[in-house]
Amino acid sequence: MRTLRTVAELRTALAPARRAGRAIGLVPTMGALHEGHLALIRRAREQCDLVVVTLFVNPAQFNESSDLERYPRRERDDAGLAAEAGADLLFAPAVDEVYPPGFATTVEVLGLTDRLEGAARGASHFRGVTTVVTKLLCMASPDVLYLGQKDAQQVLVIRRLVTDLNLAVAIEVQPTVRERDGLALSSRNALLSPAARERALALHAALRAAQELAAAGERTPQRLLDAAHAALEPFAITPEYLELVDPETLEPIAALEQPALLAIAAPIDGVRLIDNAIIQPTVQPLSQSLPAASGPIPRSLLAASDIHP
Ligand code: PAJ
Repeated sequence: MRTLRTVAELRTALAPARRAGRAIGLVPTMGALHEGHLALIRRAREQCDLVVVTLFVNPAQFNESSDLERYPRRERDDAGLAAEAGADLLFAPAVDEVYPPGFATTVEVLGLTDRLEGAARGASHFRGVTTVVTKLLCMASPDVLYLGQKDAQQVLVIRRLVTDLNLAVAIEVQPTVRERDGLALSSRNALLSPAARERALALHAALRAAQELAAAGERTPQRLLDAAHAALEPFAITPEYLELVDPETLEPIAALEQPALLAIAAPIDGVRLIDNAIIQPTVQPLSQSLPAASGPIPRSLLAASDIHP
């Protein structure tokens, strides 16, 4: 695997593959690679002829400078992990290469970005994501873009972007990879103290509490949210948001009649974590002998179910 620093090098490296009609897969990351990222790279390896992993801690999407400064950076380890998972090229540009002096263009998706992460972090966050993802797509012109369900709203926003700009790239979404105890893998987990790591389990506990209540037949959003909040209480966690929303529009739902997205963000001892789960409505059995059924998972988001390695 080669590490490339400039857009010109990347284009030169990709040109023969493109001319030969080989399928190029792109896995954008901010590094500190973990099994969640590696699952995306392995999937790209299975589906594409040439796999490009990008490693760029994108300043434009950080709304707090302390978060950007503390973000874990381990390029040497990342290069080894990406190569082992099947990457052919690692594109790790400097900030100036992506945002040279005079840079003045941004790409913004409206509407979807007002909610959840956009409401909590401000408009600049998704503007930073959509601008850098558009640039990476322009630089590499991949056939397939690999994204994780862990960032469910990011998936929806990037789908919108790709549709609206007629970008010729398919999007593959992979399920959230979790630790055995349920904690969603995140580069920020490396910043958690052992005590904070214990408290971080609350996010998964909250999602599970709502899922279990829905499986028992509850369809009232407030009751499902109350169950999730109750699961946070023993950990003394106040979420930035905890919302049960339509998985296409991200608008709060009035009743759980279709699969819905339960999304949470919470600061754990100063480390901001996010997680989400699909909450399936349970069809009330007419009699005890009939099995309960549930609706399909919405196509736009979703990878089947979470992975526990
Ligand atoms: P980053 O947080 O590094 O994530 C890179 C990709 O890995 C994203 O598509 C994310 O959803 C996926 N991912 C993260 N944790 C995961 C997990 N536990 N299971 C499965 N997939 C997981 O998301 C970004 O970077 C940036 O916003 C980026 C798209 C690179 C633009 O800067």
